[in-house]
Amino acid sequence: MAINIVPMPNNVYEYGGEKQFFEKDFIFEKKDSIPEEGYEITIGENGVFVAYSTEKGLYYAKNTLTQLETERGKLPFLRIVDAPRFPYRGFMIDSSRHMQTVAEIKKFIEAAAFFKFNVFHWHLTDDQGWRIESEKYPELNAVGSFRNGHGFSSKNKAVYGGYYTKDEIRDIVEFCRERYIDVIPEIDMPGHMVAAIASYPELSCSGKQTDVAIQAGIHKNILCAGKEEVFNFCFGVIDEVSELFPCEYFHIGGDEAPKARWNDCPRCRERIREEGLRNSEELQGYFVNRIADHLRKLGKKPVVWNESLKSGMLGKDAVVCDWMDREHLCEDWANNGGKIIIEDFFHYYLDYNYGITPLKKTYSYNPMLEKLDIVGRKSVLGVETPIWTEFVEDFERMSYLCFPRLMAVGESGWTNWGRHDYRDFLRRAEANRAKLLSMGINMAPKKDWDPLPLGRLKGQYQHNKNFITPYFFRVNVLKKDEE
Ligand code: ACM
Ligand code: ZN
Repeated sequence: MAINIVPMPNNVYEYGGEKQFFEKDFIFEKKDSIPEEGYEITIGENGVFVAYSTEKGLYYAKNTLTQLETERGKLPFLRIVDAPRFPYRGFMIDSSRHMQTVAEIKKFIEAAAFFKFNVFHWHLTDDQGWRIESEKYPELNAVGSFRNGHGFSSKNKAVYGGYYTKDEIRDIVEFCRERYIDVIPEIDMPGHMVAAIASYPELSCSGKQTDVAIQAGIHKNILCAGKEEVFNFCFGVIDEVSELFPCEYFHIGGDEAPKARWNDCPRCRERIREEGLRNSEELQGYFVNRIADHLRKLGKKPVVWNESLKSGMLGKDAVVCDWMDREHLCEDWANNGGKIIIEDFFHYYLDYNYGITPLKKTYSYNPMLEKLDIVGRKSVLGVETPIWTEFVEDFERMSYLCFPRLMAVGESGWTNWGRHDYRDFLRRAEANRAKLLSMGINMAPKKDWDPLPLGRLKGQYQHNKNFITPYFFRVNVLKKDEE
């Protein structure tokens, strides 16, 4: 009998036969030899035996049992010995470009937990909106949480915005805790800060008044690295945000920070001189290191996007999200023992439609970089898949784009590579449609998962470097920078 579990457990021995069981037939046993997130399930005529070493492992065992149950309420006779390939299995939600309601975020978390994800990386601030309540810096909400435009492709100029209150954040963090999901907040800096600069213009190099961004892309207006008040602002925000998130990791972004303003700013140039830095790239290294030092004082570890490796100055305890690393800096970093998370743009960015990133392309990607040595391979903490929302305005679209591709990433995070089987995954993904619908998630119809012609013509869907990449579109939708 074919089992319908996603992600596929790492060892399954099927005995044939099935039976309906009742509460009295279940025996749960704690066994210290089982890995933290692992579990064992043995189902036979006599009952259902579940062994685990932690509550988290027990939670995953129960998830597996739920997925094993047939429509007639029976369980198949089998033995499963399971534990994940990677300790980090994350999903990221961009709530800045477009917000989701608390109820929608919970639906998404519920589904991700069902597929054994254990990290929710929450992208809470960006050029287009500040989405977390601040008592210390009230203008972040009064000004920074609203923009004069709804979508980025529409001409709808109605005010769009809002933010999550501290109580809502606590509620979501607790909802995650109950599902063994850590929540990593991201306050992206020094770039992607236009919403904060609109709230407090003195944070930028020019100090000029500007609006919360209404266009997608990379904005040149970034935090000034020469002003002490900028660092005090960042420390203050981090202190306030940290109180809401017990997770030991804190994401400080560091991606897509153009250096034009720094190159022209007397204060930034003075900082470069004073600190003996060679250029603005090293100034970003200095910036990130000061923020990271502050995090350490709070007992937190920094997480950054891979651009933060460019200065060569990143502290060893930082975790690097590898999303777009043309210079292969992540490989060197990992081979020297630095921790990385694989979040590959071409395979794991779920905001692109299935024509650009077909399900098979996502599924066929082994999250292990080419040039990793033994140390490097051990340095891969795991996988993460983001849903950026510049062009994802509602939960219906978000669900369509993320399911089933998020399940494919979940399988790559949990299931050993040798056990990957695309045909079987297609069947198991579809078998979860009704369950997802009961959670309020409308998965994309199967006909859309691998659309022609890309879906059929590209064989294993290895990324074709000659193909005009979606990144080209991403950086070229850019706008003239608002002053
Ligand atoms: C990113 O997509 N800018 C991390
Ligand atoms: Zn400056």
